[in-house]
Amino acid sequence: METRILPPTNENLDLAARILAAGGLVGLPTETVYGLAADARNAKAALSVFAAKGRPADNPLIVHISDISQLKDVARDVPRRAQVLLRRFWPGPLTMILPKDPAIPPEVTAGLDTVAVRFPAHPAARALIDRSGPLAAPSANLSGRPSTTTAQHVYHDLHGRIPLILDGGPCEVGLESTVVDLSRGPAVLLRPGGVTREMLEEALGEPVALGKGVMEPLPEGEKALSPGLKHKHYAPKARVVVVLGTDKARASYVRKHAKEDAAPCVLCLEENRALYGGLPALDAGRKPEDYAHNLFAALREADARGYTAVYAEGLSLFGVGLAVMNRVERAAGFAVVRADEEDEEKEDRP
Ligand code: TXA
Ligand code: MG
Repeated sequence: METRILPPTNENLDLAARILAAGGLVGLPTETVYGLAADARNAKAALSVFAAKGRPADNPLIVHISDISQLKDVARDVPRRAQVLLRRFWPGPLTMILPKDPAIPPEVTAGLDTVAVRFPAHPAARALIDRSGPLAAPSANLSGRPSTTTAQHVYHDLHGRIPLILDGGPCEVGLESTVVDLSRGPAVLLRPGGVTREMLEEALGEPVALGKGVMEPLPEGEKALSPGLKHKHYAPKARVVVVLGTDKARASYVRKHAKEDAAPCVLCLEENRALYGGLPALDAGRKPEDYAHNLFAALREADARGYTAVYAEGLSLFGVGLAVMNRVERAAGFAVVRADEEDEEKEDRP
């Protein structure tokens, strides 16, 4: 199958809508990452999303809407807390887990009785949903790989498997949406993202719990609050190590240990680049928001340039830092070291 990359003009959006109506798949820009979209009411189309990505069958898809009025066709109930959050953060990078409406086939939710719902802000995503109705869309990457933040990344992973990618340019946020479970009472954060934990707490006027297994490996035998927590994610071919500690301690740890790697590089903020003694650097930008924006592209670039190891600078877990660390620690398979002033390495975060 030939894969075309086209700009999201009205004509191309109409073409995309025809492909979706026929049960086909379309690569779609959103403000977080690119999505691999299918008609959310078409069970067969949902199954072909799993096939195209090589996605484990137990990992449910997010249903995207472009108008609050579509919520009644997707969710059976919208609890009070969900109403507060949707008024505040939709359209935007927030996904809410709600009780599922029977109109959504079990293939979309991997048999769960809840459904993940998101109202994206990106104009091309909204325009396509306006034409097609609710769209089921996971991130448009091969399962286990870093998510895609440009149309070219989507092409790299999925060419030959899908007929069309709408090119909306690089994604603004760069990390997937925040996922919060509102189906069983108090909100539980299942995936941190651009809508931060602090923003959720401020809107709800109460603390928001962080789900077990979100920022640490899921304990053996424990049931996952979200199926995605069980699976490998975001990993490039290169080994990734997250390095925590002061700027100085991190840099001396990396300079020492990078000698053991065939082709090491560092993923760091611009201002710290000089500390790493000439080691090749992937650009994390100037601030945590830039790190979020650049992370997946940087991990993909590491593979393209043939690096075998990526030493990624840790951030503090506030604001968007929590989301960045969630992705980079998972990309590292939770290989996290804390460098202290004497450069004694310790396993894991204390
Ligand atoms: O920003 C985003 O959310 C992007 C764009 C395309 O919208 N989509 C995305 O989808 O990241 P995906 O499939 O890569 O991630 C969806 C996550 C998975 O971790 C999945 O396990 C979780 O949401 N999820 C979906 N439905 C769920 C449910 N009913 N209960 C708990 N977790 C759910
Ligand atoms: Mg994904």
